[in-house]
Amino acid sequence: MFEYDVCIVGTGRVGLPLGLSLMETGALVTGVDRDAALRDQVNSGKMPFQEPGYTELVGTRRFQIHDSPSVIANARALVITVGTPLHNHIETDLGQVRSVLESIAPHLRPGQLLCLRSTVAPGTTTYVARWLERHTKLVLGRDLGLAFCPERIVEGKAYEELRTLPQIIGTQDAASAEAAAALFGRLTNDLLHSDFVTAELVKLFNNITRYVHFALANHLALVSDTLGANIFEIQRLTNYKYPRHGVASPGFTAGTCLRKDFGMINEWTPYPDLLLSAWKMNEYMPMFIVQHLKQRTQIFERRIVVLGYTFKADSDDTRDSLVPKLLRYVERELPTELRVSDHHLPDPIVDPSYGTARNWNAKAAIEDADSVIIATNHTGYGNVLRELCVRRPDAWVADLWNVGKIGKVFYQARELAGLE
Ligand SMILES: NC(=O)c1ccc[n+]([C@@H]2O[C@H](COP(=O)([O-])OP(=O)(O)OC[C@H]3O[C@@H](n4cnc5c(N)ncnc54)[C@H](O)[C@@H]3O)[C@@H](O)[C@H]2O)c1
Repeated sequence: MFEYDVCIVGTGRVGLPLGLSLMETGALVTGVDRDAALRDQVNSGKMPFQEPGYTELVGTRRFQIHDSPSVIANARALVITVGTPLHNHIETDLGQVRSVLESIAPHLRPGQLLCLRSTVAPGTTTYVARWLERHTKLVLGRDLGLAFCPERIVEGKAYEELRTLPQIIGTQDAASAEAAAALFGRLTNDLLHSDFVTAELVKLFNNITRYVHFALANHLALVSDTLGANIFEIQRLTNYKYPRHGVASPGFTAGTCLRKDFGMINEWTPYPDLLLSAWKMNEYMPMFIVQHLKQRTQIFERRIVVLGYTFKADSDDTRDSLVPKLLRYVERELPTELRVSDHHLPDPIVDPSYGTARNWNAKAAIEDADSVIIATNHTGYGNVLRELCVRRPDAWVADLWNVGKIGKVFYQARELAGLE
């Protein structure tokens, strides 16, 4: 009756790995995406972004992505994995979800399951249910299944985590629960059933917990440095053989998911709450780095190198990275030169939230650097710092990620001498 087992609608960083992993289980998978460049890459057998484990699967070219949403009529299950950003205000933007509903509604058929997998604000799946009831003749639970099954992978580990993470199945009727379990049961036997809003909150609470946890780590790093103490030494002592919650490591906490998911809960409260404080703390970290580096050395009329641009280590994803903000804060200090390097990105780096920047080779960039800021903890930066120690021992380093493994946020490169 259906040519495909599943059609992924929105084959980006979440949809594409999911489709390929389902394909690996033997499912017949197809996709729809409005991005022509992404379609061309995938359809010719190439990954359009870095996500380990998928090169061979995409290379089979058995996962073909279409422009027209009419292909959804041929699939038993549809999984929606489009973006769900925030508006500029603290307000969820449902634009992409609504536009997908408008484009697929004319092609929906009895016997299908519609599964929302994008991260959504609480109440969105109920909104989708009502929208479908108003705009189609299909009766939910009888003609059409509806489920919310959140994606909880982290970028860079999709291949592994799609097989190991339990899958949350949020439904409001038995037929939809059965159809969604059949789909995600291909990936794991660990299926946890619940209702729409509970499943929506599980995903958001997973991410918010991480966001607040890192905000606390950043807060403690700020307090430590203000008092002349070393957060990494304190972390070592607090966590050593202590059986309760440990102090997390500081870092630039951002990225497309963590910041916006906090906004999806934050819009439900009118007063300054804990989440707002966590947001402020994480957003402050670029300022912390610049101001506390300035307490040690001059930035004005000096040559500053920033290593890393993406929002997380060993990734090519620049969305919602705090690095553009860091670069602007450094520029405000009027350095002689600001050099940026990220070997996961092309040269030049073109990013709407910053503009265009030359992407330096890291070792060339540090040759005559006065200060080096480690903005992302990419693998390989430890070696760059060891080179800096030899070439520019007086250079200051701001190393919030402890890439130099020296256990200090701020230090001079010469302190790295003799370390492995
Ligand atoms: N990136 C992650 O690690 C991650 C992890 C868990 C959950 N999520 C959530 O998953 C969702 C998708 O995130 P992403 O990172 O994959 O986003 P993405 O921007 O990489 O992918 C979304 C894709 O949907 C396509 N699209 C948008 N509207 C469309 C339409 N009307 N028709 C066809 N295609 C359309 C876009 O072209 C894009 O390729 C978001 O809600 C996000 O919060 C992301």
